[in-house]
Amino acid sequence: MNNITVSEGIYYVGVNDRRKNLFENNWPLPKGVSYNSYLIRDRKNLLIDTIETGSNDNYLNNIERLLEGGKLDYLVVNHMEPDHSGLIGQVLAKYPDAKVVGNAQTGKILSHYFNIPEESFHLVKDGDTLELGEHVLSFHLVPWVHWPETMVTYDQKSATLFSCDAFGGFGTLDGGIFDDQNDFEADYKGEMLRYYSNIVGKYSNMVQKALEKLKGIRINMIAPSHGLVWRKDPAKVVGLYDQWSRSIPEEGVVIAFASMYGNTEQMADFIGKELGAKGIPVRIHDVSKTHVSYILQDIWKYKGLILGTCAYNTKMHPMMEHLCNEISLVSPRNKVLSVFGSSTWNGAGVKSLAKYAPEMGMEIKGAPLEIMGGASYEKLCGAASVFIENFMKEYNG
Ligand SMILES: Cc1cc2nc3c(=O)[nH]c(=O)nc-3n(C[C@H](O)[C@H](O)[C@H](O)COP(=O)(O)O)c2cc1C
Ligand SMILES: [Fe+2]
Ligand SMILES: [Fe+2]
Repeated sequence: MNNITVSEGIYYVGVNDRRKNLFENNWPLPKGVSYNSYLIRDRKNLLIDTIETGSNDNYLNNIERLLEGGKLDYLVVNHMEPDHSGLIGQVLAKYPDAKVVGNAQTGKILSHYFNIPEESFHLVKDGDTLELGEHVLSFHLVPWVHWPETMVTYDQKSATLFSCDAFGGFGTLDGGIFDDQNDFEADYKGEMLRYYSNIVGKYSNMVQKALEKLKGIRINMIAPSHGLVWRKDPAKVVGLYDQWSRSIPEEGVVIAFASMYGNTEQMADFIGKELGAKGIPVRIHDVSKTHVSYILQDIWKYKGLILGTCAYNTKMHPMMEHLCNEISLVSPRNKVLSVFGSSTWNGAGVKSLAKYAPEMGMEIKGAPLEIMGGASYEKLCGAASVFIENFMKEYNG
């Protein structure tokens, strides 16, 4: 009944969370999120990761049912973040003989959250193996993707990589859990990039190291801790991760603006239309309207970034400052940046954007576009065309 087999002897016991509004009290979840967890039944039984506390009452019952009276011998902790480690305590309360499998860093972090006797911890080093019977698992440390203790677990029999947050994304698994049962492009790709850009992207150089390290391993299937399980085309998701972690941008420009009375917005629209006329894909975001995580997703994807703000109390608009702060936290690379804005007496908005650029790890290309007061067509025409010309030189260069 409702058993989802990933491969012979491997069961999906993850859950969907549609109740949480904000992941980490920050990122909106309009399509929910899944916490994936996997049970391997063999001579020894093993669970890979748990779920977030309170996200599903049936989790432990499902494991019990699938074990058919058998006991749980091991619990692998690939990652200690509470969306996966939340139920470690409850799992161990139910199966007190189960050994927790983790690396030295896992052990340290585990002790800050749970009181686990030393003899219950099975320490693994990079490349160590664990034999369950037919299944032999190996453990590979991928530190800082995206916590220091993160590791991935590989099952030699099925050539499945349990990759933790890597290759994961937002969005529940509504029917089938596999890539070939879902429309990735329509329903998951955007949410996967939003997850990557907002949560993992900052550690892209460590993602590159992890990809390099896993190159020698034959992978039939990728089973992450969020989102789709990749059995048909795991190479596709590896390719996307490679592209995103190398910050290889797609053609296009994101224009993000903050505007109180519409002047800066008119500038944004004017610039957008001019770029559109040159055949460049344009995405315009009002920072006061669209959650910053979606703007970061687009910034990560596209090559050009044009930020606009009205002047506000000798600085930029607070919502634009919020975006700039978020950009500085995730550090997107390889962007062509320009800035613009509207003011009335001292042009503080564009000045403060220029001041913020180094903190975002970026350099402003070309002179900023600034207008005083109303953004009439006549005012924009002359000034904006020079601005766009300069921007295009950098964009194409
Ligand atoms: C609360 C507030 C603070 C402002 N602070 C400044 C400022 O420090 N420097 C300035 O030149 N203009 C300042 N202005 C004027 C606006 O930046 C100016 O009206 C601009 O055209 C507004 O652009 P918008 O229509 O995109 O909101 C301020 C306006 C308001 C309402
Ligand atoms: Fe995580
Ligand atoms: Fe996670």
